[in-house]
Amino acid sequence: MPSTVLVGAQWGDEGKGKITDLIASEYDYVVRYQGGNNAGHTVIHGDKKLALHLMPSGVMYENAIPVIGNGVVVDPGVLVKEMAMLEAEGISCKNLKISCDAHVIMPYHKDLDGADEKSLGDHKIGTTKRGIGPCYQDKVARKGIRIQDLMDEKIFRLKVEAALIQKNAILEKIYGLHTYTVEEICEEYLPYARILKPYMAETSQMLNNAVREGKSILFEGAQGTLLDIDHGTYPYVTSSSCCAGGAATGSGVGPVNIDRVLGIQKAYITRVGGGPFPTELKYAEDGGEGLEAEEGETLCQVGHEYGVTTGRKRRCGWFDAVIARYAADVNGLTDVALTKLDVLSAFDTIKVCVAYECNGERYDYFPMQQSVLFHAKPVYEELPGWKGEDITSCRTFDELPENAKSYVEYLEKKVGVPISIVAVGPDRDQTIMRGW
Ligand code: GDP
Ligand code: IMO
Ligand code: MG
Repeated sequence: MPSTVLVGAQWGDEGKGKITDLIASEYDYVVRYQGGNNAGHTVIHGDKKLALHLMPSGVMYENAIPVIGNGVVVDPGVLVKEMAMLEAEGISCKNLKISCDAHVIMPYHKDLDGADEKSLGDHKIGTTKRGIGPCYQDKVARKGIRIQDLMDEKIFRLKVEAALIQKNAILEKIYGLHTYTVEEICEEYLPYARILKPYMAETSQMLNNAVREGKSILFEGAQGTLLDIDHGTYPYVTSSSCCAGGAATGSGVGPVNIDRVLGIQKAYITRVGGGPFPTELKYAEDGGEGLEAEEGETLCQVGHEYGVTTGRKRRCGWFDAVIARYAADVNGLTDVALTKLDVLSAFDTIKVCVAYECNGERYDYFPMQQSVLFHAKPVYEELPGWKGEDITSCRTFDELPENAKSYVEYLEKKVGVPISIVAVGPDRDQTIMRGW
């Protein structure tokens, strides 16, 4: 059975939750391999929209074992709440496995995330303030606290004590914030440890045994390619390896065991937080005007582009084929799921950015220097739309209006990767399978 990495191919929020939920039943395991509760993945359950932050979206199926891999950073309080929310919805979490090597987000990580951002002023990253960056900083500095430490009270106390010497000094002396005692942290965290202990596992060994038995794995990426710590628009990125390569290190499964890399792309593009965004259609409140502001607002309102984690209004823009080609390369995409095609039914004509221009030079590939990206002017090609035609009930490619079909085929040609899934609405069945 083939194993697949499902990866965000833009700046996150591409619809990874919906597509994971759609295909998860074909896999034996669904594994989160990076990020933490900065992610917000939406799945539709009956007539309800559920937002998942830590739990792999495959949790909706009893036969797919949900795994939180070693590359994830876990806020145990958030996980316990999410499990309770799912159980209340009648969705069992009994099969969950949490890697003993995943790192734990501590209370001071959240304080430091907020304080770091404040100190950056206008240059702030616009993080989700969930403590993600500071937790990964401790991991790389070899000072982190892991799930296996949390499960052993004696070790946990010692590690917290050691961490607080430095953290309290930073909180108090640099940021003028409150400090922590070992006791108050243990009081909050040890009850979580008792709840989560039965789920802790050696997940790398478990997944490798599964591979040997011919079982299949779906790796569910969080965030997206342009938010990747190495390949994204640094420093306006998250602190983990969101790209397909991260699936191997973040799970302990070798790359040769991955057969397919499915990139998720919206039929347009969005981003939350700061950083360059060449095709951004600026909102009036951000200084945009005229048609640009109007088109951006239409994408936002028709596409309901508000963050699942923070509620922030997402910045919106036309599809960027330069970014799509770059994402195809750095992830090794084998195919693409194109989401939210229905949102484009609101437009007479649709623009696609095929290259950038900066200082009189044309860039067909992702520019080497970020300063170019900041000043890049998109070179657009315009395609006729299918305004007013409701495509949300189309279930085969042939049912789509001619111009919608042409748009999908045009993107395939511009990006060079086949589009095997087209989503035309948020529900699981609002999907067109094209050779998946
Ligand atoms: P993720 O972080 O990549 O999982 O994406 P989010 O859940 O943050 O954002 C995607 C949003 O688009 C969610 O509200 C989904 O329910 C919704 N969505 C997904 N696919 C489609 C689609 O094809 N059409 C429409 N209209 N909405 C969609
Ligand atoms: P999903 O999985 C969109 C963005 C934040 C910020 C930057 C760093 O739902 O696609 P962080 O808190 O990670 O240190 O913030 O990354 N960001 C996301 N944007 N979707 C996400 O997740 C995101 N997770 C983080 O807005 O710009
Ligand atoms: Mg999201």
